[in-house]
Amino acid sequence: MTRHLDPDETGLKRAAEMLRRGGLVSFPTETVYGLGGDASDDAAVARIYQAKGRPSFNPLIVHLPDAEAVEAYCVLDDTARRLAAAFWPGALTLVLPIRPYAGISKLVTAGLDTLAVRVPDHPLAQALLREAALPVAAPSANPSGRISPTTAAHVLAGLAGRIDAVLDGGPCGVGLESTILDCIGEAPVLLRAGGLPAEAIEACLGASLALGPVAPATAPTAPGQLVSHYAPRGTVRLDATETEPGETYLGFGPLGADMNLSRSGDLVEAAANLFDCLHRLDTMGAERIAVAPIPDHGLGRAINDRLRRAAAPRD
Ligand code: TXA
Ligand code: MG
Repeated sequence: MTRHLDPDETGLKRAAEMLRRGGLVSFPTETVYGLGGDASDDAAVARIYQAKGRPSFNPLIVHLPDAEAVEAYCVLDDTARRLAAAFWPGALTLVLPIRPYAGISKLVTAGLDTLAVRVPDHPLAQALLREAALPVAAPSANPSGRISPTTAAHVLAGLAGRIDAVLDGGPCGVGLESTILDCIGEAPVLLRAGGLPAEAIEACLGASLALGPVAPATAPTAPGQLVSHYAPRGTVRLDATETEPGETYLGFGPLGADMNLSRSGDLVEAAANLFDCLHRLDTMGAERIAVAPIPDHGLGRAINDRLRRAAAPRD
């Protein structure tokens, strides 16, 4: 049975205790809900993969309360420190060299000598990480290949009975997964567009970002390698300025649509609504979804990335 925990002192203590005992707890972050487990416990991490039905070559992000905690597990160079100071806590994941004997389960890194880390900017996530006092591995709390959850109800729709609890913090503010940056080589490489716009990172670095993955043959790096991902049950047609018979229209901007990402054409609002709209289209039983064009800048880049995956051919 999956417990529904309230976002109060009792709920937090329960959630932290479950994590310390090797249990799986879904918790809210500012991006999406994570499926948390103790990153130093092989069995807990194995249960994360099992609950999600995730291919085990896809490594996990470790969540920590602050940059100082990250330093215990990873090596940060000047660039990584600058990015951490500018954007943590926040929707940025850094892939960094892992310290030898860091105590992180090899199942988390899928055997790589790098670790993806993030400091979430959500009061409940922060409180939970401090209370549990563990490195918490947390992929998005959805079955593998399906839409990421931005509410506790989305989590339960996909994983009820497969995890111990969900800590309910209401809807996520950002609504898109974190931006992932590889900080292993000379210059950072963008592995996944996400909740922190690439333009903000480029402004911080004073340089434009290279796009990854760098070495797809050897590194099971970006989630982009699983082409169909973030998929609703219905088919998805992109850049649709009008609908064909039988289609449900997901709009953007001031136009007549069955559902709208943002009537005012606000990309931040659209990002926050994206996964909830896709979940609701599933619930409605929409078989063919047409999506309005979304501008490809700022958060629009990450929204378009998710929509392209949702539209990709399925196995
Ligand atoms: O916003 C987020 O990032 C959410 C919340 C819960 O924090 N988490 C999330 O995790 O989206 P997940 O597992 O769905 O996506 C993480 C991606 C993986 O698909 C993997 O490709 C990449 O991060 N990743 C993890 N470790 C990596 C590594 N060492 N090198 C390169 N990529 C890595
Ligand atoms: Mg995911």
